[in-house]
Amino acid sequence: MKSRKIIPCWGAAALLLSVGCGSQTDEKISLKEALKDKFYIGTALSVAQFTGVDTLSERVARENFSAIVPENCMKSMFLQPAEGKFFFDEADKFVAWGEANGMWITGHCLVWHSQAPEWLCTDGSGKNVSPEALTERLRSHITAVVSRYRGRIKGWDVVNEAILEDGSWRKSKFYEILGEEFIPLAFRLAHEADPDAELYYNDYSMAFEGKRSAVVRLVKTLRERGLRIDAVGMQGHIGMDYPAIEEFEKSLLAFAEAGVKVMVTELDLTVLPSPNPNVGAAVETTFEYRQSLNPYAGGLPDSVATAWTGRMSDFFRIFLKHQDKISRVTLWGVCDGDSWRNGWPVPGRTDYALLFDRQGKAKPAVGEIIRLAGQ
Ligand code: G3I
Repeated sequence: MKSRKIIPCWGAAALLLSVGCGSQTDEKISLKEALKDKFYIGTALSVAQFTGVDTLSERVARENFSAIVPENCMKSMFLQPAEGKFFFDEADKFVAWGEANGMWITGHCLVWHSQAPEWLCTDGSGKNVSPEALTERLRSHITAVVSRYRGRIKGWDVVNEAILEDGSWRKSKFYEILGEEFIPLAFRLAHEADPDAELYYNDYSMAFEGKRSAVVRLVKTLRERGLRIDAVGMQGHIGMDYPAIEEFEKSLLAFAEAGVKVMVTELDLTVLPSPNPNVGAAVETTFEYRQSLNPYAGGLPDSVATAWTGRMSDFFRIFLKHQDKISRVTLWGVCDGDSWRNGWPVPGRTDYALLFDRQGKAKPAVGEIIRLAGQ
């Protein structure tokens, strides 16, 4: 581990001269510089951020992160809204932005039950298509998408969220039609389309014992069948009191033990009360707005901000402790105002889930992470 000297910069003039200070950090070194020898530090980008609309978050992303993933534009409902009619404009711009800014580019996601277009699994009358028809549709989608970015997108979330908390298979359309075989099929097709791309399984609520065991079984099964899987993505949609950090660490170690790298994907830490913390990150589960569920609309009290910094730093302490097993840690968004957490599981709230505030200023957690990385 390289040790780094962190010199705080005092005053605006010094701030402007410092590396990374364009993003209003008080540090002499940027987040990505500090973590350079540890793991990629990534962020999800929205379309507005890589098309020049949201210039504030674009700048923060460019200056502080070394990896990107598209928050939405590569989901199948956007890439192939109608059968055979592909829409690559936004995805092309996303990849071009990543290349222009020297980012490690991950594609998200090839097969996900949510945000899949209606036509993919059903026929004109709404009935499930045959296993042969779905196999063919998956083949044409995965092949077209992965081969278009061959050699440019370095890794793919091949299958997203196929396992439930108790370790059983999610009863998605893919599962109804093809059973669990849709997973090896997707990995095989992705590998054929770009033999050099890394391939990942990505899911939330990974600290649950049942899900942990099932993901380990999945990794082993894919490997035994001679299929490529490089890493498991542990989505980090966490709260102030869930999951237990020890359980998260246990899963991290279990996946590494199964023979793959671990990536912490989709990291965000909500401070807001949850009507039901067990929903994980199931986008389809939402609750009605109540003012009592939105306590910090006028600003975050110092005590809560301090607790947030502490918990985020505790997680990074674990990531750094296991840096030999982790290839990437990705935040699910750039600045607080960008986060999906403001709209889920309750719409219209004000959350503070990311590392940069609504003005693009680095939060104290950024300094903490930089210091931890330098130890
Ligand atoms: O782009 C359409 C727009 O055309 C339409 O008019 C508008 C009306 O609702 O919707 C827009 O799409 C929205 C999309 O984000 C892009 O902004 C969808 O409604 C909205 O549901 C969608 O939410 C995304 C969600 O996944 C579902 O795809 C969130 O931004 C995104 O953060 C979230 O990310 C997921 C990961 O992919 C997988 N893991 C869980 C994570 C959080 O749910």
